[in-house]
Amino acid sequence: MDYSCKLGPAGNLKTACLVVGVFAKNRMPPQTEVLDDALGGQIKAVLKRQDFAADTADTQMLYEPRGAAAARILLVGLGDHKDFAPGLFGKAMQAAFAVLNRSGAADCALVLPGTGENDDTYRLTRAAVDAAETAVYRFDRCKSESKPPKKPLKRIAIVVDNRAQLASAKRAAEHGRAIGNGSRFAKDLANLPGNLCTPSYLAEQAQALARGKRKLKANVLSEAQMDRLGMGSLLSVSRGSRQTAKLIVLEYKGGKAGSKPIALVGKGLTFDAGGISIKPAANMDEMKYDMCGGASVLGTLAAVAELELPLNVVGVVPSSENLPDGDANKPGDIVTSMSGQTIEILNTDAEGRLILCDALTYTERFDPAAVIDVATLTGACIVALGDQASGLMTNDDALGAEILEAGEACGDRAWQLPLWDEYQKQLDSNFADMANIGGRGAGTITAACFLSRFAKKFKWAHLDIAGIAWLGGAQKGATGRPVPLLTEFLLRRAKAKM
Ligand code: BES
Ligand code: MN
Ligand code: ZN
Repeated sequence: MDYSCKLGPAGNLKTACLVVGVFAKNRMPPQTEVLDDALGGQIKAVLKRQDFAADTADTQMLYEPRGAAAARILLVGLGDHKDFAPGLFGKAMQAAFAVLNRSGAADCALVLPGTGENDDTYRLTRAAVDAAETAVYRFDRCKSESKPPKKPLKRIAIVVDNRAQLASAKRAAEHGRAIGNGSRFAKDLANLPGNLCTPSYLAEQAQALARGKRKLKANVLSEAQMDRLGMGSLLSVSRGSRQTAKLIVLEYKGGKAGSKPIALVGKGLTFDAGGISIKPAANMDEMKYDMCGGASVLGTLAAVAELELPLNVVGVVPSSENLPDGDANKPGDIVTSMSGQTIEILNTDAEGRLILCDALTYTERFDPAAVIDVATLTGACIVALGDQASGLMTNDDALGAEILEAGEACGDRAWQLPLWDEYQKQLDSNFADMANIGGRGAGTITAACFLSRFAKKFKWAHLDIAGIAWLGGAQKGATGRPVPLLTEFLLRRAKAKM
């Protein structure tokens, strides 16, 4: 998508479609009022008919408006003006851009609404760009014939009232575009099935991402290299698979030479059948999404590199399959991790933590300022938080607060669960330093407890993204989350103007 920012008045803009917001109960944002005056009250006349209630995401197309240079006007319902916020605005815009993508208009001009109070050009523009990227996303790589819309939406102009807003909108469009590109990168990898998106493929994509970018470097460790490092836990998972495991490392150097990097560690399990503790058949296809944490780390590094943020960032993605096999982990097996700690594998389906623990130990070598790991780690997290929030657990509440705030600001939210010491004993094992499962209660927390034992040397936060990384059912597909959250966090760390 091509984004530009323009100064109003909207009536003079030559465009295939002017997109304007209307509040419920016949209330119009001031920008829509001004336009309607130029139109001689055509919008008011439509509202009077009461066909269009202007509830959030309602849309109504008007053709050949008199008094404007635009060929069409798309009225978009913004709901009750008292509830107006970037999140709901984004929902409305997603509906609007979906309509436009199916219409004959290849470009549009979105008149940014303001309620007069708490106007936030930056956040509204970010929400609009996010909505546009979501509305036009398609994944048809595996269809024999792709059937794109006849005239897809290609260009969006954001229309604002004054120069200060213009500067905010431009920054937001730039940030939003990078986040959109990073999210698309993550979604494409995630939607690709497990037979095509293997650990080797993921590694190749990371290398391709770094190619030609001066500040971004990729390094992929082979199983032999991991073996030399003593990554017995990670390699035990991979032993049950014919695909060879990879440890993908991306280093982005945009900050000062001595400044400690932020490390992002993402679970890159390209297919999780559960191993010998095999999963039930229903919806098992969705376990191709078990690499979404890793994909979101790669997508975030893509966004950071596009924005050239003045930070050092490291991405570490342990990648493997988890399958049943004669050589696979068996319940009761004991493995030795890179940290030296031994693990009794009581359930081979709790494999995410087995590959992440060695990746966390590996991350120590970067002397990171903070580490955030991202993983589709537990079904229990879906039970706890559904598809709204990532589960956040941390050994540093200041870091946790920073992540929560970033999520709130960009609408890609997280919610904190406790990581109290009392939960640790659920991992006691009679035969090894710890078990890889913690029994019935608090499954999301005991998984984090397990990881915390490999994160003692740095400030660390864990995001369980099992509920948010993809949608099931008729809308099955990757969401690209939490690329927006992670990039927002890094934009703030970089003190970017927003
Ligand atoms: N990848 C799964 C977690 C998962 C399941 C994410 C369903 C999204 C949807 C993970 O490897 C797993 O299997 N976890 C087990 C842990 C259990 C054996 C302690 C789970 O959640 O059932
Ligand atoms: Mn599993
Ligand atoms: Zn898994």
